[in-house]
Parts: sequence; C-alpha cells; structure tokens
Amino acid sequence: MKHNDILAAMISPLCSWYETNKRQLPWRKNRDPYRVWVSEIMLQQTRVEAALPYYQRFLEALPTVEALANAPVDLLLKLWEGLGYYSRVRNMQKAAQTVVEVYGGQFPADRKLLSGLSGIGEYTAGAVASIAFNLPEPAVDGNVLRVIARLLDDDTDIMLPAFKKQIQGALAAVYPQAKDCGDLTQAIMELGALVCIPGGVPKCDKCPLAHLCQAKQNGREQVLPVRNVKKEKKLEKRTVFVLEHEGKLALIKRPESGVLAGMWEFPAVEGHVALKAVNKVVESMGGAERVSKLASHRHVFTHLVWDMKGYYVLAKEKSEAFFWITPEELAHTVALPSAIKPFFQAYLEQKKG
Ligand code: ADE
Repeated sequence: MKHNDILAAMISPLCSWYETNKRQLPWRKNRDPYRVWVSEIMLQQTRVEAALPYYQRFLEALPTVEALANAPVDLLLKLWEGLGYYSRVRNMQKAAQTVVEVYGGQFPADRKLLSGLSGIGEYTAGAVASIAFNLPEPAVDGNVLRVIARLLDDDTDIMLPAFKKQIQGALAAVYPQAKDCGDLTQAIMELGALVCIPGGVPKCDKCPLAHLCQAKQNGREQVLPVRNVKKEKKLEKRTVFVLEHEGKLALIKRPESGVLAGMWEFPAVEGHVALKAVNKVVESMGGAERVSKLASHRHVFTHLVWDMKGYYVLAKEKSEAFFWITPEELAHTVALPSAIKPFFQAYLEQKKG
C-alpha cells in the first residue's frame, strides 16, 4: 500500500475508535476556539493530567479572550506559575489583544491568520483550525510524528524539520476525507497518548490501526520512531543569594529578554562562590552580617542547565538596587520561576528551624 493510501485508510477506523475511547477532557466540552487554544498551549508544556488543574483555574479566572486581553500581567504569571516558559503566557496575552482589536473578539477561522498571532506556530495553528473550526488542517507534534512514523514504518529522524513538513503535507492530502477534522486531529493525538505510547511497549493489541501498521507488520514498532540525540545543553554555574533585611527579602527583575525574561528572582552572580568568599561578593549588595549555606539546585531549561549554589545572607544594609518584600507577600503575589523557588523553600525551612 502506498503511504497516502495507508493514511486515507486510517481515518475511518481511527475516528470510530476515538468516538468510543476518547477521554472526557474539559477542552473537549465544546469547540470554543479560545478554550481549544488555551489547552493546546498548555499541552505543549505539560502532560494532560498535569494540565487539568491549571486549565480549570485559568478558565475560571479568564473565561474569555477579552478577559485575557485585559488581565494584569501579575495575574497571568500567577496562573502560569509552575508550568514554566512564562513567555508563552505573555505571548498569549498579545495574541488575545490582537484577536480583540483586529478581529473583533473572534478568532479567525484561517490557518494563515491564526499563525500570524503571537505565539501560534504551525502546530497550534493546525490544532485550532481543525479542532475549533473543523478545517482540514493537520497539527503535527511529537505524538503525531511517532504514530505516523510507526504506521508508515518510516525510520527518518523525527527531529528533522523536513520530516515534520513531509508528514504535515501527507496528512493535509487526506484530511479532507475526514467527516470531522477536529476529531481526526484529536484522534491521532489520543492514539499516541493511550495506545501508540512513547517508551515502553506500544499497546498494539488495542490499536484500531494494527491491520494497517507497517512497523507492526515488520516487527519494528518498538524500534521506531528514530529520534536522534539532542545537542548537549549549555551548563551555567550560578550563585543565588537570599538576602534578608528587617524581615524582608531582596528581589530583582531579570532583563526583558533572554532566559526568564522580566521575571523576579533573588540576586545572583555567575559562577560558584565559595562560602568564605560570600562576604566579599555581597559587599555591593549591602554587606553580610551573617551567611549560611542553602541547598544547591539544578534547573534544566530547553537549551540550558543552571547549576546553582545558594546562600542565605542577613544583610547589613537595605540596598536600593533591590525590591524588598516580606516572605508572605512573596509567596502570595510573586510568580517566582521554578528555577528559583527551591531557594525560597530552603529559606523557609531554615527559618522554621
Ligand atoms: N495533546 C495536545 N493536544 C491535545 C488534545 N487536544 N487532547 C489531548 N492531548 C493533547
């Protein structure tokens, strides 16, 4: 069978399977483009189970695109806290503002126009176009690449952008044959999540496409997909100071571009500072009356790893360079990045005793 014929033949059994096996998820309740879009952005960052409470909370606080467009940034960051990549939620707000200002509050039912919105790439544009508007536009993410690479027994490296493009084109050719394009998009994803799973053994005995699957026929379902090892991440050593003065802690805002753009963090320096050198280093931060070690922490970003040492410093003076805040206020009003939070937790534990 030719590749296009296999893809065309998958549609009907896959969509029937989806109809009876799909999970009841809150973004499947209706096809409101706003709800679909929010779910797709969240699901790029985390698994379905982990996304659920965030999703509910986000939609309760910001139920419409207008509400998101007008939300204070602090609320956005707080709602996103723990999901990581805060730039995503900032971009969502920009996109929401465009939808309100340019499109009168209605998401455009057009893949190209959707891709023109801030933070909406090929995948998200396809997902919203098909799921919310029932347009014949595929959405290709890692799950879809795995399912299709197995179905076609294709051992191309799925990390290659050219492969993604090829799969997107091949799916686009058969999408018009689907009765419901949104269901087809979600059915492929659902199969990837529940049956054609990554890691471990795929559940081929439960698969509605087993009779079509070329990898299964050739005994290669556990070898595929081919995913070449990623480049090594850059490692950066840092030292983080939890500075306290008269019951308040020092925060500083990160630059508006780069890693954790515009986020609050504790004052930090590059490199690892030894305990005996801390006094000297924090002289410019108001000087140290007392210093103690906090647990080290490592945080992995997409292209970067921060290997961080931490110190608690009781500061002699209240440096003007920082924003000072009580620990209670910090906990309730500031979305501290996950990379930095462990130092706040270590501080709180140290305080407890
Ligand atoms: N992963 C990405 N999008 C999804 C969706 N709509 N449902 C379930 N899992 C997904």
